[in-house]
Amino acid sequence: MTKVTVVGAGNVGATCADVLAYREIAEEIVLVDIKEGVAEGKALDIWQKAPINAYDSRTVGSTNDYTKTADSDVVVITSGLPRKPGMTRDDLIETNAGIVKSVTENVIKHSPDAIVIIVSNPLDVMTFQAHITSKLPRTKVMGMAGILDTARYRAFIAEELNISPKEIQAILMGGHGDTMVPLPRYTTVAGIPVTELIDKDKLDAIIERTKFGGGELVKLMGTSAWYAPGSAAAQMVEAIVKNQKRVFPVCIKLEGEYGIDDCYLGVPVILGKNGIEKVIELDLNDDEKALLETSRTHVKEVMSVLENIAAK
Ligand code: NAI
Ligand code: 2OP
Repeated sequence: MTKVTVVGAGNVGATCADVLAYREIAEEIVLVDIKEGVAEGKALDIWQKAPINAYDSRTVGSTNDYTKTADSDVVVITSGLPRKPGMTRDDLIETNAGIVKSVTENVIKHSPDAIVIIVSNPLDVMTFQAHITSKLPRTKVMGMAGILDTARYRAFIAEELNISPKEIQAILMGGHGDTMVPLPRYTTVAGIPVTELIDKDKLDAIIERTKFGGGELVKLMGTSAWYAPGSAAAQMVEAIVKNQKRVFPVCIKLEGEYGIDDCYLGVPVILGKNGIEKVIELDLNDDEKALLETSRTHVKEVMSVLENIAAK
């Protein structure tokens, strides 16, 4: 039986659990939250939708009782504060690091062999926190951001060309923040290089909008997005539990790839039953390398903020 736990039954976590259920990605989905009754209520609501939407996946809710999560194959961690207008993802670090640390300890106690997907922000540094807390191999602790950021980029390109978003293939690297690195050289429309279809100025504007795509939604809604983030996390779970070997940008600790050591960054990987099966190393040109270096420097700075908090 495939069992998946989603910690945090807020906007992103509940959306992720819903997608996992209605797409029958897991047979059992356990939703956990610290707020009394919320996870139980949302799990029950998703289960009561099963007769309408015709699916068999079971959803179970739990208020902080991790025994219910035992022997999960995959755990998605979404617990933590979201951004409010005017905040950066990095402003969340101290609170969310404490939450991610305690949640990871509880998760690993009951599912020592699970693959862990982090969603909480600041994403790259929360993946660092979960990795050191879990003591799992780096291939089993990863962050979700690249699928979301790439989806925003793909959606904007589809809109510009009035073409199905399914036709847009793209790769985006780096940290989940304003220093992310969309790669037009690796962006195609049904195999046609995007640079042949969109002129440079328009493409540059799309890249800028992508970099600030999360902030655009925070400004509109007063909190951060959840439909695309929840679906993106569920897509990673699906690739793992179905051993699909799909290629996605995923945050992982780099150990020499791209000439980068000891930093958590989004890079293209192959996702399968063992988690990250392989990191794909692209042959970046000098401009792309410089952008990735800027992103690495930023993530390293935030990693050292976390290290200073931990040392206090
Ligand atoms: P939310 O506020 O709707 O939900 C967070 C939930 O976590 C709440 O229900 C809260 O009670 C719960 N929680 C807090 N402490 C907990 C603990 N110790 N154990 C269990 N549950 C706990 O927030 P939302 O919108 O779902 O966002 C969640 C996180 O995901 C935020 O940090 C946000 O910034 C991040 N995010 C990351 C994205 C990415 O691309 N990586 C995209 C969107 C959001
Ligand atoms: C997003 O990109 C805030 O990380 C969140 O929507």
